[in-house]
Amino acid sequence: MAMKSLTYFAVLYLLALTLPLAIASDPSPLQDFCVGVNTPANGVFVNGKFCKDPMTVSADDFYFPGLNIAGNVNNAVGSNVTTVNVNNLGGLNTFGISLVRIDYAPNGQNPPHTHPRATEILVVQQGTLLVGFVSSNQDGNRLFAKTLKVGDVFVFPEGLIHFQFNLGHTPAVAIAALSSQNAGVITIANTVFGSNPRIDPNVLARAFQMDPNVVRDLQNRF
Ligand SMILES: *[C@@H]1O[C@H](CO)[C@@H](O)[C@H](O)[C@H]1NC(C)=O
Repeated sequence: MAMKSLTYFAVLYLLALTLPLAIASDPSPLQDFCVGVNTPANGVFVNGKFCKDPMTVSADDFYFPGLNIAGNVNNAVGSNVTTVNVNNLGGLNTFGISLVRIDYAPNGQNPPHTHPRATEILVVQQGTLLVGFVSSNQDGNRLFAKTLKVGDVFVFPEGLIHFQFNLGHTPAVAIAALSSQNAGVITIANTVFGSNPRIDPNVLARAFQMDPNVVRDLQNRF
């Protein structure tokens, strides 16, 4: 075989190795659950949202005003999350990204919670925040915490429990981006002690190693 065609095949082979592979897999869930039905007439949602006719799409479909406005932090935890996701900015559909503004009262906190569908990257706009996340059981439930000042950025890995606490005596503000159009949020205390209907207090008493009466008291609060 001629040297020239050998080189030709070698180049083809290398190209085949380096070309990006087309990988087809199921799309990730875009809501908590999406139970299948057999007839479309009985269905309401697809995985995500239905798409608007592209010919009727305008700039306003990609626009959300007002993230300069603080949320009301006059509540039990002293924080407020203003969410910009696919539910109030339809143009985000299928793009795997969303945004929040978080306001904190002095000593307010965004209590321990997790986003089942997103990693979060946060930047402090105003104030000083103690932030942290805890790794999974397999990783030893290690706390990764940091004090952030204006301009500091921190990442909370997908699915891990995290929090932010305003260390200052003045209001604080953060902006965060999330790697889902509908990240979801599970606030630990509300989920565990505020479920509807309630989890049997004996289950939580054993799980949290505390008196069932303390569990009932917590369940009354949430
Ligand atoms: C967050 O702020 C908005 C706007 O002020 C308010 O309508 C909402 O009730 C607040 N949410 C909480 C949990 O306090």
